Amino acid sequence: MRRQIAVIFALALALPAAAADSTLAATPPMGWNSWNHFACKVTAADVRAAADAIASNGMKDAGYVYVNIDDCWQGDRDEQGRIRANAKFGDMKPLVEYVHSKGLKIGIYSSPGPKTCARYEGSYGHEEQDAQQYADWGFDYLKYDWCSAERVYQRSQMVEVYKKMHDALVKTGRPIVFSLCQYGYERVWRWGASVGGNLWRTTEDINDHYDRMSVIGFDQDGLQPFAGPGHWNDPDMLEIGNGGMNHDESITHMSLWVLLAAPLLAGNDLSNMSQETLDILTNKEVVAVDQDAKGIQGRRVAQEGPLEVWAKPLADGGIAVGLFNRGESVNPITVNFKDLGFDRSVQIRDLWTHKDIGSFSGSYTADVPRHGAVLVKIR
Ligand code: GLA
Repeated sequence: MRRQIAVIFALALALPAAAADSTLAATPPMGWNSWNHFACKVTAADVRAAADAIASNGMKDAGYVYVNIDDCWQGDRDEQGRIRANAKFGDMKPLVEYVHSKGLKIGIYSSPGPKTCARYEGSYGHEEQDAQQYADWGFDYLKYDWCSAERVYQRSQMVEVYKKMHDALVKTGRPIVFSLCQYGYERVWRWGASVGGNLWRTTEDINDHYDRMSVIGFDQDGLQPFAGPGHWNDPDMLEIGNGGMNHDESITHMSLWVLLAAPLLAGNDLSNMSQETLDILTNKEVVAVDQDAKGIQGRRVAQEGPLEVWAKPLADGGIAVGLFNRGESVNPITVNFKDLGFDRSVQIRDLWTHKDIGSFSGSYTADVPRHGAVLVKIR
């Protein structure tokens, strides 16, 4: 069984990384994105405040780096066709410099279509010019969102459409993380890396409810062969701290995302968050599972109705294991070590509480709350 698991996970490493640059996003990108909380209301001041928060509240130390502006920053184009920011942002250069001065990186957003999803100016017909503008401003990350491209291209043209922007980014000479956002159409995980994608959304949008988050997260099984250093499946940004999920649901969200080696882009208002939210986002042993150097995406190893066990092999030979209760009442969940390939007694550590639980043989059982999760490391 262990060999079987090893072979399945080894397949992931065998797939060609193609054009994706694995020095960029060697581990899943971590940071913040404006959309989930601020949506179209986002301003330059909100972005500065997010950078201030990350730099001072422990998030930077925990590995959060990118401060990403999503939709609704765009103004019109000047006579030469150069894109300008709207009045909420003014000149981008000082904002970029401010974020950089905090030791952080900054991201921007556009669409291959004429308009973005919120109907702001897209990059259609201006790809090279826009890529150069982002590089001139000093951006480090681009999320490129399909949106109205649907009106001017066939879906079968996605590969060339995304490659066009990747080539334009490369031409600038500036390393810019390339984030594909086209909702998982056309099995993007099969070609995302070949067009230089460092991450690609695998689904339609998340929202701040357990049902939506869990449908997305638990549906990711099977995509693990396509993820690896430099090129990641992206089940969308975090909703932790936005108010729609309780503590146990937020623990499930974070535990599942780290097992999936998902990008960790906080989506809440960082200058107004509870200690509880901050503790969930910055738990170092939990984040370490996501950022593990091997870059193997975890998978479901057992399921009994709404009770699921997921596992992610780690670089040090240990295995991170999540016990998830999607049911409506507390339930015991058992992980059988033979499902993980262990035929000896193992050591178990609780990653959320940082406690060694002890030595076990055969199996381990924990009571898991409704919609909650337990995350352990087994070795
Ligand atoms: C799409 C994307 C979201 C966000 C919005 C912005 O819905 O999937 O993540 O970027 O557009 O309009």
